[in-house]
Amino acid sequence: MIDAKLISAEVERLFASIEFTAEPAGLYDPLRYMISIGGKRLRPTLCLTAYSLFRDALEPGVLDCAAALEVFHTFTLIHDDIMDRSPLRRGVDTVWKKWNEDTAILSGDVMLIDAYTRIAKAPEHCRREALDLFSHTAAQVCEGQQYDMEFESRDDVPMQDYTEMIGLKTAVLIACSAKMGALAAAASPQQCDALYDYGYRLGLAFQIADDYLDAYGDEKVFGKPIGGDIINCKKSWLTVRALEKTPDRSAFLQVFNRPTATQEERTAKISQVKSMYDGLGVAADARAEIVRLSDLALQSVAGMPSALPVLQSFAEKLIGRAR
Ligand code: IPE
Ligand code: IPE
Ligand code: MG
Ligand code: MG
Ligand code: MG
Repeated sequence: MIDAKLISAEVERLFASIEFTAEPAGLYDPLRYMISIGGKRLRPTLCLTAYSLFRDALEPGVLDCAAALEVFHTFTLIHDDIMDRSPLRRGVDTVWKKWNEDTAILSGDVMLIDAYTRIAKAPEHCRREALDLFSHTAAQVCEGQQYDMEFESRDDVPMQDYTEMIGLKTAVLIACSAKMGALAAAASPQQCDALYDYGYRLGLAFQIADDYLDAYGDEKVFGKPIGGDIINCKKSWLTVRALEKTPDRSAFLQVFNRPTATQEERTAKISQVKSMYDGLGVAADARAEIVRLSDLALQSVAGMPSALPVLQSFAEKLIGRAR
């Protein structure tokens, strides 16, 4: 077992040491910008944490996997910010905003290639499986992102469809990160699957927390604009739950689907939708659902008692987050 503090130091060292190609600067600067600002580095940390349950020292191949997961994740964010018209990420301008959309598309593309170059350096004993898992996951993330966009113009999104959508856009990559670490450590297929399920359930909780913070977070800490989901008519967990609870769906939808053109209209819509959420008590429901899913995640690894304390403290940090 490797200490959590050491893993976090190792993750920081890893990203400080990666040297991305320099020229042309217009292509690679955005990539360096996003990676060097860094976010929570959740996925590489989970990969190395899962690995550390079985091994006492980190080896180069697993560090390449961890880096691949973060580079891939950051690529999805660069493209997601174009799709969501979001101007702020990790507390700074998004790539499309700072440069332009064409740059964000192409830098994102080259980042995806960079991620593949790294995953191809997975430890030899699991390289084929790591590549298959990574490719399958990457396609699923695109599927989830497509559903996420399609749901913007649908008023009839049941909770089950919402859960499948966030399972694809968010949870599978977190599940993949946990399993990747286990694969690299040559854990048994049962252990790999248990860690995948743990990551998947935690990933669902993580996206619901993201939806909650998008409406109720503090922009300075969250690093993203508050109310973006409301402006974009996203079917977030809060929206889907509100539609389940409201006695008057059409009144709710009239406010929720209202387009906005000016800053004043946006501010007014965000506050009106949030007061409908408040009236329906959906924020408290979201917090309860996050706790329920996090408990379920721990049940996935109940058969690995020695791993439980580490995985429990990882889950607690994740759901207690404000950013
Ligand atoms: C943001 O992911 C996208 C979601 C899946 C909610 P993170 O919240 O992990 O973003 P960073 O990497 O910390 O910026
Ligand atoms: C992000 O969903 C999922 C992916 C990037 C694949 P969101 O659109 O909610 O993520 P944020 O809130 O912009 O980080
Ligand atoms: Mg999005
Ligand atoms: Mg987004
Ligand atoms: Mg979000």
